[in-house]
Amino acid sequence: MEFSRTYLLWGLQVLVLCSLGALLNINGGVEASHEVYMQLQSVSSPVNVSQVHRTGYHFQPPRNWINGPMYYSGIYHLFYQYNPKGAVWGNIVWAHSVSKDLINWKRLPNAIYPSKPFDQYGCWSGSATILPGNKPIILYTGIVDTNNTQVQNYAIPANLSDPYLQKWVKPNNNPLVVADRAINKTAFRDPTTAWLGRDGHWRISIGGRRGTMGIAYLYRSKDFMHWVKAKNPLHSRNGTGNWECPDFYPVSVSGRNGLDTSVMGSRVRHVLKVSLDVTRYEYYTLGTYSLEKDMYIPDEEMIDGWNGLRYDYGNFYASKSFFDPSKNRRILWGWANESDSTNDDVKKGWAEVKALRGKKVELNNKMLVKGEKIEIKGITAAQADVEVTFSFNSLDKAERFDPRWDRYDAQNICSQKGSTVQGGLGPFGILTLASQNLEEYTPVFFRVFKAQNKHLVLMCSDASRSSLKDGAGAYRPSFAGFVDVDLTGKKLSLRSLIDHSVVESFGAGGKTCITSRVYPTLAIYNNAHLYAFNNGTETVKIDSLSAWSMNRPDKMNQ
Ligand SMILES: *[C@@H]1O[C@H](CO)[C@@H](O)[C@H](O)[C@H]1NC(C)=O
Ligand SMILES: *[C@@H]1O[C@H](CO)[C@@H](O)[C@H](O)[C@H]1NC(C)=O
Ligand SMILES: *[C@@H]1O[C@H](CO)[C@@H](O)[C@H](O)[C@H]1NC(C)=O
Ligand SMILES: *[C@@H]1O[C@H](CO)[C@@H](O)[C@H](O)[C@H]1NC(C)=O
Ligand SMILES: *[C@@H]1O[C@H](CO)[C@@H](O)[C@H](O)[C@H]1NC(C)=O
Ligand SMILES: *[C@@H]1O[C@H](CO)[C@@H](O)[C@H](O)[C@H]1NC(C)=O
Ligand SMILES: *[C@@H]1O[C@H](CO)[C@@H](O)[C@H](O)[C@H]1NC(C)=O
Repeated sequence: MEFSRTYLLWGLQVLVLCSLGALLNINGGVEASHEVYMQLQSVSSPVNVSQVHRTGYHFQPPRNWINGPMYYSGIYHLFYQYNPKGAVWGNIVWAHSVSKDLINWKRLPNAIYPSKPFDQYGCWSGSATILPGNKPIILYTGIVDTNNTQVQNYAIPANLSDPYLQKWVKPNNNPLVVADRAINKTAFRDPTTAWLGRDGHWRISIGGRRGTMGIAYLYRSKDFMHWVKAKNPLHSRNGTGNWECPDFYPVSVSGRNGLDTSVMGSRVRHVLKVSLDVTRYEYYTLGTYSLEKDMYIPDEEMIDGWNGLRYDYGNFYASKSFFDPSKNRRILWGWANESDSTNDDVKKGWAEVKALRGKKVELNNKMLVKGEKIEIKGITAAQADVEVTFSFNSLDKAERFDPRWDRYDAQNICSQKGSTVQGGLGPFGILTLASQNLEEYTPVFFRVFKAQNKHLVLMCSDASRSSLKDGAGAYRPSFAGFVDVDLTGKKLSLRSLIDHSVVESFGAGGKTCITSRVYPTLAIYNNAHLYAFNNGTETVKIDSLSAWSMNRPDKMNQ
């Protein structure tokens, strides 16, 4: 599967409300409620993104939060949740930008905004589907009252000949789907892209909860207008809390190409991703879509719950994917609050981002002994693309994995075993957005542990030293995940896209991805530095390192 990323829907209200303390306990976690905080809706952004930390090549709206994607007749459309009046969540509309290359974006008028009884308190997230005859249709969640009641609506382009699809209409037969009595209507949102069953009927899934059970409801329709709830949900899992932004799509077991959402067959597996309201992380499983039961069944070895696999172990929420028929790939958009990240195809080439590469520097066969760091000079370290492969002679010095550690709490292990805690095999990696004397830096590194019968590779993107600014209230976790990689070749590769306030990293060719938002005060513009380092007793070698200055795309009037 190939994918790109950017963000979608929803994360925002969750994140903001959490910081407001609007929390309620479920299963030992906390869930952000989705109340609308009227008094805060028009407060302007707490983060001054206008200058220093504004990203150069990650899509960022003028202010506020991002939403979902679509490809139509040669043009990529990005819709995003946007509060035109302020920087916390509220007054939500679907803003709209278009691009031919996923890099250069043009801002258009808002596509969908509250104007009808079925969405007068907000137009929340949803998805686009391309109907036969190349006709796009958007399904989105409308808020109909001050009690936060959620219904599912549709919108269609006013003029299919307009290449930008600037104007959208919301016909009066909305809403298409309302919650029945068995459904909690204040947790009923984020319809997926529709797929066609073998019976020729459409299906969509909608996220929700019953008590502590996360649910992806299933609805079917013959004509896309009349929807009937299936007896069984597509999938549900107790103990996970509310599910937002479900995403359900096929992946090929044989090829590298992405698949259109309705593709089925023996060479196809399915992915179900959900965004967890409670933990603010997303997890996904790989499994089987049983056509007989019309249900999704995760593979047995998959962890179906909070400890499940994540697309990204950092600041990334409410992702949504779409199929790009022009390149036969599935592109994944996600949201790194308060901005967004656009990457490309992990497996196939990063064509668009690569086009922004400018000046290049290289380094080969450079040994790094314990405590050593070397500067990568000659590029713009505040806006760069770095690819590095490290190698080492042996795994013998790997530290013991303390059996008391929680295998699924990589973030906690990274916060204890940061770059300054010297180790055996690792920590080694790079220091991004570093100031001259390392007052500030965001290290991205590996640390290899020896567990009972195997080695565990920890990958960290540690924001805890990223800024000298008062940390009170800031979100600077030691983001981390384990990398499921074969170490027999004794090599580990790392790529980081550095973009002023975004550090987006890919371990072992994208097996583990971590996005961090950081706000340095010294390590900005030409005062940002990039280093490679090793703080473990095992000497590591930089087999090869390439780093490029990244150009700023022509942002048009985004
Ligand atoms: C980003 O998200 C995190 C995690 O929910 C939150 O703690 C932080 O306050 C958010 N940052 C902003 C600027 O909203
Ligand atoms: C944002 O930063 C710019 C440049 O540093 C400054 O001119 C502007 O006043 C700042 N805005 C706010 C609201 O702090
Ligand atoms: C909101 O919910 C309360 C309590 O159930 C109910 O009394 C009230 O009529 C509801 N308001 C609206 C606008 O539906
Ligand atoms: C539809 O869009 C096309 C292409 O932009 C334009 O020529 C045409 O006038 C539009 N039609 C209407 C009814 O606006
Ligand atoms: C319905 O969902 C809302 C939002 O998640 C939650 O606050 C409420 O407790 C739920 N109600 C029931 C009966 O589970
Ligand atoms: C879900 O888990 C909760 C807490 O363990 C339990 O009380 C509830 O009965 C479970 N629900 C179902 C449908 O199994
Ligand atoms: C390596 O460890 C030493 C000793 O703790 C520390 O002073 C130094 O900052 C570390 N290097 C990095 C890059 O964190």
